[in-house]
Amino acid sequence: MTEMGTHEKVALIAGVTGIVGNSLAAKLLQEPKAPESSLWKVYGVARRSAKPDWLPESLHYIGCNLLDREETLSKLSRLQDVTHLFYVTWVNRLTEEENIKTNTQLYRNILDALLPNAKNFRHIVLQTGTKHYLGPFELAGQIPVPDPPFREDYPRRPCANFYHDLEDMTFETVKGTSITYSIHRPTGIFGFAEGNLMNMVSTLAVYAAICQYENKPLIFPGSKMCWDFMQDASDADLVAEQEIWASLDPKAKNQDFNITNGDVFKWKRLWQLLAKEYNVRAEYKNYESDHHQESELPKKTIPCKSLQEMMKGKEAVWDKIVKEKGLRPTKLADVAQWWFVDSWLGQDIENVSNMNKSRELGFLGWRDSEKSFLCVLEKSRKNRVVP
Ligand SMILES: NC(=O)c1ccc[n+]([C@@H]2O[C@H](COP(=O)([O-])OP(=O)(O)OC[C@H]3O[C@@H](n4cnc5c(N)ncnc54)[C@H](OP(=O)(O)O)[C@@H]3O)[C@@H](O)[C@H]2O)c1
Repeated sequence: MTEMGTHEKVALIAGVTGIVGNSLAAKLLQEPKAPESSLWKVYGVARRSAKPDWLPESLHYIGCNLLDREETLSKLSRLQDVTHLFYVTWVNRLTEEENIKTNTQLYRNILDALLPNAKNFRHIVLQTGTKHYLGPFELAGQIPVPDPPFREDYPRRPCANFYHDLEDMTFETVKGTSITYSIHRPTGIFGFAEGNLMNMVSTLAVYAAICQYENKPLIFPGSKMCWDFMQDASDADLVAEQEIWASLDPKAKNQDFNITNGDVFKWKRLWQLLAKEYNVRAEYKNYESDHHQESELPKKTIPCKSLQEMMKGKEAVWDKIVKEKGLRPTKLADVAQWWFVDSWLGQDIENVSNMNKSRELGFLGWRDSEKSFLCVLEKSRKNRVVP
């Protein structure tokens, strides 16, 4: 605390109800481990009007549509004590051109509301992701991917990507000022959230619960390569830890960082663990012909039923599960994003990032991906989002 009794570190989390946003809020508001560290004051913004009960009590919640410029200027320009912005939000549009237009507008609104008024403003944390290396969803499989493990010093892919625009706006914003930034690139995130845009764990848990309810096997909907090959994942709490570290450590200033668990896993093992949790049979036979041996490279991946197709029309089944299991009242679309799982598990590449850069600079956090998956599942169950 300063002499005036105000906090020295004041965070604004843009996207506080999101998959990393709520982890950030919990971590920032934890008692500091070192006695000399000061406490954070934390504001959190999201679109929904009321603060969900799973966010920390001491969070200062602001319901605001960040795409509405007037509303954003009016609500955020009052937050004159903010020192750190954690930008962990996005909006998904049908084309990358629209993504660029909308996401830059959202970012611009926040920066314009905050920076002229927050006199002690110090650091911007910008969260993007491994689509920085892979290209946007709409170009999946259509542009060459750099050699994995992906490294931060790889040049940008030569295609439109709203991540590039957000980065450029950040560089422009800090130029000639004392403000610093850090950019964070998680891969697919294992994290708790209710009603966010991409959630691997809740979507798979909902799928498994529906299979259990209908007494059907849990068929892996992805590619042979994704089943057999090593992949990585990003635990939401770990992403939050790296972002907080980078917001405070001078060595991390003005850098971009990959952020994954630091291990690799195989879906063929994780699938068994998920099946066990829901007492269903795990199956891998989502191919018209599947003659290759375990160790053989797939000769050809034959696309067949996607999760999106398999789960078509299951809204009423989910409503029954919610009622019978006493879950929070959600609609299927709030908790399961089939397209996202299809896109992640359908990959025909080794999607692995290199974690050495932030380690070398002092961030040593890691997670066991299998434990991370189960831990998030447990949290989602405790919060009655999934059975
Ligand atoms: N999720 C993943 O697995 C994953 C993996 C790699 C990279 N990323 C990247 O990480 C970045 C952040 O995504 P995320 O997945 O962490 O976000 P998320 O979980 O989908 O959360 C989005 C947050 O933004 C808020 N929001 C959306 N539109 C808003 C608006 N108009 N006004 C105010 N708040 C708004 C949401 O609020 P409401 O809840 O109120 O709508 C929510 O708090 C994105 O660039 C994404 O591509 C995500």
